[in-house]
Amino acid sequence: MKIAVVGAGNVGTTCTDIIAQRDIVKEIVLLDIKKNLAEGKALDIWQSAPISNYNTRVLGVTNDYMRTTNSQVVVITSGLPRKPGMSRDDLIGTNARIIQSVVSQIIDHSPRAKIIIVSNPLDVMTYAAYRTVIEKGKSPEWASKNVLGMAGVLDTARYRAFLADELGCVPQDIQALLLGGHGDTMVPLPRYTSVSGIPVTELIKEERLTSIIERTKKGGGEIINLLGTSAWYAPGASAAQMVEAIVKDYKRILPCCVLLQGEYDLKEVYLGVPVVLGAQGVEDIIELNLDKGEKELLNTSALHVKEGMNLLDEMKLFQS
Ligand code: NAI
Ligand code: 2OP
Repeated sequence: MKIAVVGAGNVGTTCTDIIAQRDIVKEIVLLDIKKNLAEGKALDIWQSAPISNYNTRVLGVTNDYMRTTNSQVVVITSGLPRKPGMSRDDLIGTNARIIQSVVSQIIDHSPRAKIIIVSNPLDVMTYAAYRTVIEKGKSPEWASKNVLGMAGVLDTARYRAFLADELGCVPQDIQALLLGGHGDTMVPLPRYTSVSGIPVTELIKEERLTSIIERTKKGGGEIINLLGTSAWYAPGASAAQMVEAIVKDYKRILPCCVLLQGEYDLKEVYLGVPVVLGAQGVEDIIELNLDKGEKELLNTSALHVKEGMNLLDEMKLFQS
């Protein structure tokens, strides 16, 4: 079992390190366009193996896609991160070209790979990856099962961490779900949030819950304002969790950015919803019975993502 991580920056390196520590694959190839960056980071990670007791071989390469050949899962983190004051959408132009070039080369060398996009703006970049694999000759059906994005796992983790702080309990006792795009229009669902089975609405007053939800929506920005660049520990861990679900065929139910084809009455839009994630990639999309308010929020989020997808279409990067 071999996986590849493209982009040896903050998120890619963290994700590589976490997957390596879990010892679930034989080899991880970390690739970056910047000379020697991936080699140096990979070597450093690999030298922690004797201490942390894992055997996953971590190898770094500069733009050498041959070394990624036959990867089963590829995580793509290449692209610019946001700076303070920037929205994720400000990154569309630059990052779409990077995604197109990277995904195209990945498909040439690993035609059966499950591709997890991390680069922002997440939903639009996942769509860019989808368009790229179709241009490379894959069917839309194959693409929709094998190209997905990471956002919901991270956004849900932030929400769970804030709730744990509020209640003074451990995060693992909190089950929660967020839908929608990765941005301020994301849709946290208090109705689907519980603490060891107890509905969160019985434990936290509505006003406090609303403010936690608002903080979650702006969770990425909060870290950018503190650090001057975007987060990487939780994003890296989130992508690693998705890789593990696929590699181990856990069939975990995780919120992922996937192509909706009529689910939730939405069509041809990449959006975060709960899916079954296993060895076959997106094995199923779970449709919840949303109430009117939740549905409206999801539709607003879908509209926002669609605007980004339209901007991408206007760039005419894709022929088909
Ligand atoms: P970073 O700047 O630390 O790393 C990006 C890496 O990509 C750099 O090392 C760069 O050399 C490399 N790169 C650029 N073009 C490339 C190409 N054509 N081929 C190979 N490598 C290339 O950025 P960071 O913090 O790791 O973030 C990466 C991306 O992930 C950003 O777009 C960021 O906004 C996004 N992100 C998404 C999250 C999500 O929830 N989906 C969460 C956090 C970050
Ligand atoms: C985050 O949510 C910026 O998308 C990145 O941390």
